[in-house]
Amino acid sequence: MKVSKRAQDVPPSATIAVTTRAQELKAQGVDVVGFGAGAPDFDTPEYIKEAAIEALKAGQTKYTAAAGIIELRKAIADKLERENGLKYAPEQIIVNIGGKHSVYEAMQAVLDPGDEVILPTPYWVTYPETIKLAGAVSRIVQTKKENGYKITTAQLKKAITKKTAMLLINSPNNPGGFTYTPEELKAIARVLEGTNVYVMSDEIYEKLIYGDTKFVSFASLSEDAYNRTLTLNGFSKTFSMTGWRLGYTAGPLDVIKAMGRLQSHMTSNAVTFGQYAAIAALGPPADEAIEKMRAEFERRGKYMTQRLNSIEGVECTEATGAFYCFPDVSGHYGRNIGGATINGSMDFAKALLEQANVALVPGLPFGCDNNVRLSFACSLEQITKGLDRIEKWLAQ
Ligand SMILES: Cc1ncc(COP(=O)(O)O)c(C=O)c1O
Repeated sequence: MKVSKRAQDVPPSATIAVTTRAQELKAQGVDVVGFGAGAPDFDTPEYIKEAAIEALKAGQTKYTAAAGIIELRKAIADKLERENGLKYAPEQIIVNIGGKHSVYEAMQAVLDPGDEVILPTPYWVTYPETIKLAGAVSRIVQTKKENGYKITTAQLKKAITKKTAMLLINSPNNPGGFTYTPEELKAIARVLEGTNVYVMSDEIYEKLIYGDTKFVSFASLSEDAYNRTLTLNGFSKTFSMTGWRLGYTAGPLDVIKAMGRLQSHMTSNAVTFGQYAAIAALGPPADEAIEKMRAEFERRGKYMTQRLNSIEGVECTEATGAFYCFPDVSGHYGRNIGGATINGSMDFAKALLEQANVALVPGLPFGCDNNVRLSFACSLEQITKGLDRIEKWLAQ
């Protein structure tokens, strides 16, 4: 059967490709250490599972409003006001089928063919594909290591053209593990004043921040920022609910209504009993449940960074957010390791997996070929084992 040009143009996710090869090796009995996953390794907290079971037993198994049950949209509005200083009416909020769906649907709702989206590197692999699927064009801005891989106001000013429709901000960042400071975001917001540029602020790693890092929602910076921002968030990372497929978008009423119309034809509502569990997730036990996971991630991230930096030719900044280390490994490019020539992050990841059985994600599909991504959403024991192997492999 014919496959559309649109579908042919979309490559499989690079993060999934590594995981698939690692799974193949595991199936052959190889002991693979996996640093590829973008999912917390904890179980969903019990109080959330209980709420889903209760909802199922109470018969919450039918369609709801496409944009989500009003009780959940109110609970999200309360959360955004309480924790982020953002005032949204429940009608300005739509519940999506995971954060990935929020990104896709928001792009479909605001972008027209030919529009440009400013996409700073490193970027999550899904953004360029969803931009393309909306008929728009990614204007990739190559950030610098010395600026912490963050876009500067000078770079932003230079990237804005008459066609710019959107700036993508993802802080804390996947794959970079960095977080923009409130001052940096304020400076970006000032550059955008007087332009027609929307901001998509992907805040899915909001709760996973370390040390004295402060998180601030872009939309809370000023009235101007509020009016031009779509705030995206979800339950996958914060509550270890990746399989539940629950995300949400908050923003200007006309855009959220447009997303609702699209959603009513594409997917309808998120799973009904899951929506009731999401209300519970945002309730009082949340802080304690999140803190347990956050503190453990912080411990692992510190250890992983310290181990990576002790390896010659590897440079890694300690993560301030999310659960990724994104070291520069280009010090090893040009080498031949175990018979493989390493000329970039793809060669590096492939040779490491085949020769030392450690799975990580090459930086190229994130727009940074000097780097690789290691997730620390796995046990300290696995981290130690994997880093021992990397150290030995590179010392050849
Ligand atoms: C930056 C970023 N945004 C959004 C998502 C979407 O997560 P989900 O679709 O599981 O809610 C992810 C998941 O990897 C992510 O890394």
